[in-house]
This record gives sequence, C-alpha cells and structure tokens, in this order.
Amino acid sequence: MCGISGIIGLQNISNPLVASIRNLEYRGYDSCGVAVLNGRGKITVKKNIGSVDEVNEGEKLTKSKGFVGIAHTRWATHGRVTKANTHPHLSCHKEFACVHNGIISNYRALKNLLAKKGHKFLSETDTEVIAHLLEDFYNTTGNVEKTFLKTLNKLEGTFAIAMITTFDSDRLYCAKKESPLILGIGDDANYIGSDSNAFIDFTKNSIVLDDFEYAIVSKDSYVVKNFNQGNIIEKEITRIHWDAEMSQKGGYPHYMLKEIYEQPQAIINALNIDQKHIKKAASRILKSEKNYLLGVGTTYYVALLGEYVFSSMAQSFVPAISSDEFKHLGEISKKAHVVALSQSGETYDTLNALKYAKNKGACSTAIVNVIGSSISRLVDQTIQQGSGPEICVLSTKAAFAQMIILNRVALEMGVIKKIISPAKKNIIEKGLKELPKYVSQVLNEKSGFVHTIAKRYSHIKNWLYLGRGLYYPIALESALKMKEVAYIHAEGMPAGFLKHGTIAMIDSDHYALVFVPPKEDRELYELTMGGVEEIKARNGFVLGFHFEPKDSKSGLFNEDIVLPKVEKHVAPFLQLILAQLLSYFTATTLKRNVDRPRSLAKSVTVA
Ligand code: F6R
Repeated sequence: MCGISGIIGLQNISNPLVASIRNLEYRGYDSCGVAVLNGRGKITVKKNIGSVDEVNEGEKLTKSKGFVGIAHTRWATHGRVTKANTHPHLSCHKEFACVHNGIISNYRALKNLLAKKGHKFLSETDTEVIAHLLEDFYNTTGNVEKTFLKTLNKLEGTFAIAMITTFDSDRLYCAKKESPLILGIGDDANYIGSDSNAFIDFTKNSIVLDDFEYAIVSKDSYVVKNFNQGNIIEKEITRIHWDAEMSQKGGYPHYMLKEIYEQPQAIINALNIDQKHIKKAASRILKSEKNYLLGVGTTYYVALLGEYVFSSMAQSFVPAISSDEFKHLGEISKKAHVVALSQSGETYDTLNALKYAKNKGACSTAIVNVIGSSISRLVDQTIQQGSGPEICVLSTKAAFAQMIILNRVALEMGVIKKIISPAKKNIIEKGLKELPKYVSQVLNEKSGFVHTIAKRYSHIKNWLYLGRGLYYPIALESALKMKEVAYIHAEGMPAGFLKHGTIAMIDSDHYALVFVPPKEDRELYELTMGGVEEIKARNGFVLGFHFEPKDSKSGLFNEDIVLPKVEKHVAPFLQLILAQLLSYFTATTLKRNVDRPRSLAKSVTVA
C-alpha cells in the first residue's frame, strides 16, 4: 500500500503537495518524494527515505516551484527501501515522471524489452518501467494521451498511476486498475489522490475513479475516459462529509478498528504469498535438528499458536519461546533453525535472540511485515507478510496474517511428511480460502452485539480467558488485547489448568470468557464445556464464544455469541475477531487512548 497525490493549480503547488502526502503517510512511510514541473518546462524530482517531515527537511521538498506536480509516500513491495527505489520515477530524458501504487506483474518482461532498446534503469522497482514505457511510446506517437493509453494497455497487474510530462505542462494524467484513485475538484486547483486524505484540506468534492478509467486533469477542468474502449465517462461528484483526521482512518474512529476491519484483506494477502517461500520454510524446519518459534508479546502468542498447529498438522514439535527468554532456554547449534515473528522487524528482544542464534551458527527464517527492517535483513529467509501499515500500537491484522502464514507452513510440512492426505489438504485450504468471507461476516453481523456486551461489562476489573488446544493461544492473545488497550486485567489460561488452583477464586463475582471449540472437535469441545460447568457450579459468570446455536439455551452461559460454522482449523480465528472487538469497545467505553495506549510503543527497540 502506498499513497499517491497530484495537484494542478493556479498557485505554486509544492506546499499543498507535501501536505497531501503527509496526510497519506499512514498508507506507507518508508520513503517519499515529489516531482514538480517548473515554469521552464523542466521536471524536478526530490525524494529520499524517511518520513515526509524528515525528507522535507533534508531535500527541501516544499522549495520546488511549479503549478503541476505529483507525489508519493511508499510502502516498499518491489525493491528495497532506498532513495533510488523511492517514487517519483523518471524516464531516461526526464520528460515523464510517474508515481504508482499496486504491482505491475509483467514488469520484468517489459524491463528486459526496454533495456534492449537502450533504456537505462536506475531502480529495482516495477514502477520505473512505466516512465520508460511512456517515453518509448511517445517516440512513436508524439501525442501524450495516445502514449498514456498505449502504456496503460501494456501494463498487467494492479495499478493507480499519476503522471506528468514536459510535453503537456498544463495537465496531470492518472489511471486506475484495482488500486484506489480519487479526483478532488477544487476552486482554483484540481487534485488526485489514493484517497480523499490527499486533498481533504483543500476540497470536499471528489470523484471516485473505477477500474479501467483514466483522467486528464487541468487546473479548471477534467475528463474521465475508459482505457479499454476510449469513450468519455460522465462521473458524479460526491461531497465528502468527514474531516481530515477521520478520513485518514478511512472513516473509522480509530486505527485499531480500521485495522481489525482490514483483516479479511490481510488474510488474502497472506494466502497470496508465493508457495515457494512457504515450501522453503517448511523444508528448512523439517531438515533442521532443532527448531524454535520466537516472538514477544503478541508475536509470542502467534508463535505459540504455531507450536500447536505444527504439532496437529505435521506432528512436529517446535517449541515457542518468548524472544526475551530465548538465551536462557534455547539449545543452539549449527543444526538449529529459528523462526522469528515480528510485525515491525525491529523489536530488540527478537533481534537480539536472532543475533545470538546466528552467532552460534543456526539458520533463521522470519515472518515480517515491514520491508527492509533489521530482522528481515539479518535472517536467511524472510517471508514478507504484506499486511500493509499497522498504525495502531496494538497488533491485530499483522498478527492475524502471521497466524495464517504459520498454518500454511504447517500444512506444507504435513504434506511433505505425508501426514496430510491430498483430500485433507483440500479441506484445510478451502477453510483458509473461505476465512476472509467469514471474518467479514462476523465483523458485519456481530460487532453491534459485542459492543453491547462491552458496554454492559466494562466495569469488570478481572477476567479469566480460558481455552484448550489451539484455543489456548487465542485466549492468551485475546487477554493481552484487553490488558493493553482497556487496562483491564485478563488472565489467559488453559481451561484444564483451572481446577489445579485458580478455581478457588471462582464465585459469583468472577467473570470468565470461554473459547469453546465447535462440536466436531469432540474431545476439545467436551473438555472445554466441562470447564464451563465447573465455573457455573460455583456461580461464576461465563461469556461463551461458541459455534452451537443449541448451546445458547443450555443455561451454561450468562452471555454468549454464536459464530458461523467453519472448517475446524480456522474456527479459533473467528473467536479472535470477537475478542479484539470486545477489547476495542471496552476501551472506547472507558475512554482509553485506543491507538496509543499509555506506556506502549509500536516498535520496542530497547531491551
Ligand atoms: C501487542 C503488540 C506487541 C508486539 C510486540 C512485538 O498488541 O503489538 O506485543 O506484538 O512488541 O512486536 P513486533 O511484532 O513488531 O516484533
């Protein structure tokens, strides 16, 4: 995910251009840049790695002068986080500059072709081919619109593109296929943006482009056409009703909620990771004498979920260790392999544990969200999870995506070990594939109910979160969410552990959230329901997340939420969604600082 912006106006546009990408920074913030066409018909590109403010300070982005320009804030996908890979990209003769969001899937073939024709590439990005393709077509057409059209029709994959050229200094060109792009229609300027944040400070009139549409925008007019058929399309202007702050969150009041709602897409992205990366990690685990799963905080719970999944799908015991404890526990040699999980890729404890393992000769794999991060540069193999920026300090979608990736690795291990038959593999894969749909359904249908429950019980100071098997790490992660965002004590525990001590606390003042498996998971289901009975027998309060409509009438739950039936390996994930929402709504009821809870930081880079 990246942020695109463009402005054409009556005044110098560099200040609003920089402001626009600052407003888009949540879409990606590893590097940024601007291209401005100045009065002498020359394009000036200024760019570098870092946040908009950092780059502006170093490169003086706002000092560019011109009436038309484009800008970009990047979340690296193709190519590392370097100045050369930062957008905008220029053609060889600096007559075309472009920015892009999406992935050009045929860029290698195009790059080879263009290189043979003498085009010189300066970056590793897929985007740069667009600038060279534009130059190449212009050499034959001599017409900017025809050049733009020919280029668009050559590109495969997904894109939102904005382009300026010295051959038409009074216009901005942009196009959309699958990546978002919006026009902003102002009084003395017109705008383009990945979303309305790009221009919400300047105009609230917008036009949403549809797939296969391109627009040619001048300071006082615009035209939208279809790039398959070439016909003009009449577009409706929509008035935006929210303010800049809210729209950065895509209309959500908090990033946490936005990111919870982005989970269906984060799952799809995790499922789209090339199987070759999954296979490589799976075979490395199977070949290594000893393996460890590492993470800390939420990622430790993700690792613990991995421990259960590796055991159940592949009969491989891979212990999960909290990164900060690794040195005291791990038995590391050249034959060991460490699998680290980290959203930021910068967490000190995990980085340190990896360095320790590496120094002892172990090999390493990491599942990381932030491209080019320290952890991804340290390990032998990185699986890039592609969940997009996670702004809220609490991890939701990134952790969820890691769980999906671990399921895929476990499945592959089970297949390699011939524990999982082709038929069983199909069932599990189908369950994973259908998960985004069910997650959306739960978000749409249950969040109102979770909100009501959260409001009703936000005064409760102590919760017990109970689960067995796969549901245990889910209970732990859910409890952590409640603690960190609502500052309410929630203790995650294996449901079977209860009777070995904690049960002494249960009375009518005690509140438990129980993660009940579906009935098909018979043994786990019965054992978990046994735990529910134990609490009820002592007048404890039970909130049940379960899958059996009939159980709602059992009298065992004081409150319950029934979930749709899904394949058993993905059932706990639906409960995690409910628990995230419960923490979120409890925190909002208690007026907590949801996106930045007290004492926490997004990336903990200290010991
Ligand atoms: C909890 C949370 C933290 C992180 C932990 C590891 O919501 O976000 O517990 O999971 O600090 O961070 P990463 O994944 O960046 O290594």
